[in-house]
Amino acid sequence: MSRLSIIIVVIVAALSLTPALSDELCNPRDKKALLQFKKDLGNPTTLSSWLPNTDCCNPEWDGVLCDTDNKTYRVNQLYLTNLNLSKPYPIPSSVSRLPYLNLLYLTTTPNLLGQIPSSIVNLTKLHYLYITRTSLSGQIPQFLSHMKTIVTFDLSYNNLSGTLPPSLSSLPNLQGLAFDGNRITGPIPDSYGSFSHKFTSLTLSRNRLTGEIPATLADLNLTFVDLSLNKLEGDASVLFGSDKNTQEINLAKNLLEFDFGNVKLSKDLESLDIRNNRVYGTLPKGLTALKYLSRFNVSYNNLCGEIPQGGNLQRFGASSYAHNKCLCGSPLPSCT
Ligand SMILES: *[C@@H]1O[C@H](CO)[C@@H](O)[C@H](O)[C@H]1NC(C)=O
Ligand SMILES: *[C@@H]1O[C@H](CO)[C@@H](O)[C@H](O)[C@H]1NC(C)=O
Ligand SMILES: *[C@@H]1O[C@H](CO)[C@@H](O)[C@H](O)[C@H]1NC(C)=O
Ligand SMILES: *[C@@H]1O[C@H](CO)[C@@H](O)[C@H](O)[C@H]1NC(C)=O
Ligand SMILES: *[C@@H]1O[C@H](CO)[C@@H](O)[C@H](O)[C@H]1NC(C)=O
Repeated sequence: MSRLSIIIVVIVAALSLTPALSDELCNPRDKKALLQFKKDLGNPTTLSSWLPNTDCCNPEWDGVLCDTDNKTYRVNQLYLTNLNLSKPYPIPSSVSRLPYLNLLYLTTTPNLLGQIPSSIVNLTKLHYLYITRTSLSGQIPQFLSHMKTIVTFDLSYNNLSGTLPPSLSSLPNLQGLAFDGNRITGPIPDSYGSFSHKFTSLTLSRNRLTGEIPATLADLNLTFVDLSLNKLEGDASVLFGSDKNTQEINLAKNLLEFDFGNVKLSKDLESLDIRNNRVYGTLPKGLTALKYLSRFNVSYNNLCGEIPQGGNLQRFGASSYAHNKCLCGSPLPSCT
């Protein structure tokens, strides 16, 4: 055998002995961080597919996605749900050692507790942060406002307390905030009227928010807003506007008090719920022109006058109008 063929035989033999290593797309630093993350959570059975001798970019690694579009094969998305942790753990800071992460989805894991780790500010490519249905507590941290790439923050249904950080409005790419189902107190900051024009979705329901809805929120063009089940007072008419593209407004179960007769309605409205407040005045005639309106409830307020006849308004049952001061006409009894 020539020297060359000996070298080839040796190379071929080496390749066939280590197929997993030679074919592996996973970046070794990402794999190391993922295995550390698994260990930091007490090696839960739900992550048993994460093994040191297999490729983390292989779909058998549950919840892990690598960037195949750009062929960098860096771990860029982590979808972790129902982790079934054997005992309580904080969110491991090892997660911040996945520098190419674009999406972090960590939900429905009651044994996750402690605070949101400050190390996540090191995820400088993160667009989507979903940490929901855990026992995470403490304040919504100020450092979230340093995460300039963020498009969506969803921290709903945790055990967060304290007040809403005003500085979040400086995030240049933010499109949606969801902090519903926590124990957040205090007012909605005035600064929330100065979110960028990309901002379209605000969900703050099921908290303990107080005070008035800031007048600055008139500057937002929200597709979706849910402030229900809080203790907000005063005027909410700033959220309405005929020049906006609002599809859903939910203000149910607050202490809001304003003249509904004066609000201007987005023609795109599909869902409007203002039940259980102190809203007064008449129902705006423009409601009959809303083609897409399919959910509607104004019950338990102080509204008065005849229910406008037409559009979809008579399709909603009497319970959508009940318990007001003096609303009348179909589907309620006639006004005479
Ligand atoms: C959750 O973990 C326990 C042990 O800690 C195990 O017995 C159980 O099968 C696991 N459940 C799931 C759905 O993985
Ligand atoms: C971010 O990463 C750097 C370098 O790895 C580290 O020194 C720093 O402590 C990290 N920041 C946080 C808040 O963890
Ligand atoms: C939420 O946090 C409070 C204290 O901050 C604690 O007493 C309570 O048990 C927590 N609830 C859950 C579901 O973790
Ligand atoms: C709201 O956004 C829509 C769609 O992006 C746009 O057509 C509309 O002009 C905006 N309205 C205002 C008041 O900014
Ligand atoms: C409207 O809200 C009231 C009060 O919460 C409720 O009893 C009723 O069932 C609701 N009706 C509809 C159609 O949602």
